[in-house]
Amino acid sequence: MKKKITVPDIMACKGGSKVPTMITCYDYTNAQLVDESNIDMILVGDSLGMTMLGYKGTVGVTVDDIIYHTKHVVKGAPNTFVIGDMPFGSYNVSIEDAVKNANRIFTEGGCDCIKLEGGSDVAPVIKAIVKAGMPVCAHIGLTPQTSAMMGGFKVQGKSLEAAQELLDSARAVAEAGAFMVVLEGIPAMLADEITKRIPIPTMGIGAGAGCDMQVLVAQDMLGMNDWVPKFVKKYADLRTTIIDAYNTYCEESSARTFPAEAYQYNAKIEGIENLK
Ligand code: KIV
Repeated sequence: MKKKITVPDIMACKGGSKVPTMITCYDYTNAQLVDESNIDMILVGDSLGMTMLGYKGTVGVTVDDIIYHTKHVVKGAPNTFVIGDMPFGSYNVSIEDAVKNANRIFTEGGCDCIKLEGGSDVAPVIKAIVKAGMPVCAHIGLTPQTSAMMGGFKVQGKSLEAAQELLDSARAVAEAGAFMVVLEGIPAMLADEITKRIPIPTMGIGAGAGCDMQVLVAQDMLGMNDWVPKFVKKYADLRTTIIDAYNTYCEESSARTFPAEAYQYNAKIEGIENLK
């Protein structure tokens, strides 16, 4: 059985040979599958807005939504490190409110750490949550919650000035006490430099191979979505597999070839013909 990874283990991967892996997950059944795999970490991301709730983006996901999904994932994956995502609006009102919401996700969700988006601007929030006793994973670069401010889901840090700002942000979140940082949607060259220059591990998504670790949205890498971003490799084609299975079931049910005898209960009831 897999041994659950810890915050010190994850931090120790910086510069080491072990490369922990992370995937998103939002429900009990899939959490059990991840738990049986070699994947070390689950992110119950606010991407559940799109994957589970059918929203166009992550804005609209609530603290209650994150807690609901996190607690079921935690139940299904006792040997996997689980990260609960702080949704939009849950940490931008006041530091007190942010700590209160982080506490709820951590205690009611039962996860192992909290994640939130933002760089230098959220450093004081990270500091307060860490001080309250919760490990924090930061998230910089393309931050989906504030994609409206970025003009959409666009690669960040492409100019020297923007690259410097992201490096400064990575340093600020590390200084504030984050134990790892997600780098999303930035040039591989910049992710390499940030990874080399900060003391905490980087977790890349659309940020190239130079990051200390990688994360993908499960539905994307399993091939459940029609469209995926450029950085996603499809490791399976579950969309085709699942639709084919539904259609075969549909055909066999219509043709009454399902259920065959093997799939029914064959107990003999004496005198069945006497039923009134
Ligand atoms: O919510 C999420 O799934 C994320 C990943 C894309 C890192 O934040």
